[in-house]
Amino acid sequence: MTRATVVAVGPGDGGFLTGKGAGIIAGADVIAGFETVLGTARPHAKPGAEILSMNYPNQEAQLDLAAARAADGKTVVVCAWGDLNVSCNELLDRIRQRIDEVELVPGISCIQIAAARSGIAMEQSLFVTLHRRYGHEEQLDDLIHYLKEARRNVICLPRPFDIMPAALCRRLMEAGIDGARAVTVHQRLTFDDESSADTAIADCAETGDGDYSDLTVMVFPKP
Ligand SMILES: C[S@@+](CC[C@H](N)C(=O)[O-])C[C@H]1O[C@@H](n2cnc3c(N)ncnc32)[C@H](O)[C@@H]1O
Repeated sequence: MTRATVVAVGPGDGGFLTGKGAGIIAGADVIAGFETVLGTARPHAKPGAEILSMNYPNQEAQLDLAAARAADGKTVVVCAWGDLNVSCNELLDRIRQRIDEVELVPGISCIQIAAARSGIAMEQSLFVTLHRRYGHEEQLDDLIHYLKEARRNVICLPRPFDIMPAALCRRLMEAGIDGARAVTVHQRLTFDDESSADTAIADCAETGDGDYSDLTVMVFPKP
């Protein structure tokens, strides 16, 4: 029986890593995660902990290695960005394919920070992620549906880098969404260079796709 813990490290600023998560990282023999995520986890690692740095091409191989370490009886932690219940399914599936028992330690999501910055309540909001390898067209249909329904605020993660805010707003207008509708584009939330722009869908559509960080959340307030 192999075991691992997935610790969600928050949206960037290390102050948003929970005490629980930091404690579990500090006890780990092996810590795996994408390099940006490890930036938050590393300061808590114990001396000598093995760090498995992942990127898109090597992630399967690094997770295989993490699973082998778990089979050797090592304490293995895989770190996830933000919260692990938010747009993290593909990573969790990869871990579950390799490890028998996976404990999940939630964290603070970028969508919570975006909701706080926009001053909106979760119970009056819906969340749609386009940030996935497969199925984003279906999610885009959902986004259009909910925006037309106009009953709730919609929080949306774009898809780096082919469906970023400008391209997304163009597609929304093609689908019949009013270009005068408000949208706030939050970038790099909790980092020193964080920014938030209140604009209209039509104005956002005129911006350049290259104007946006991969760390971008869009909030469409209920009209
Ligand atoms: C694969 S999703 C993971 C989300 C993460 N599990 C969470 O709860 O924040 C990655 C996307 O989340 C958004 N994101 C994550 N951190 C962010 C931040 N600090 N500021 C703005 N957007 C962020 C971006 O849209 C990014 O492309």
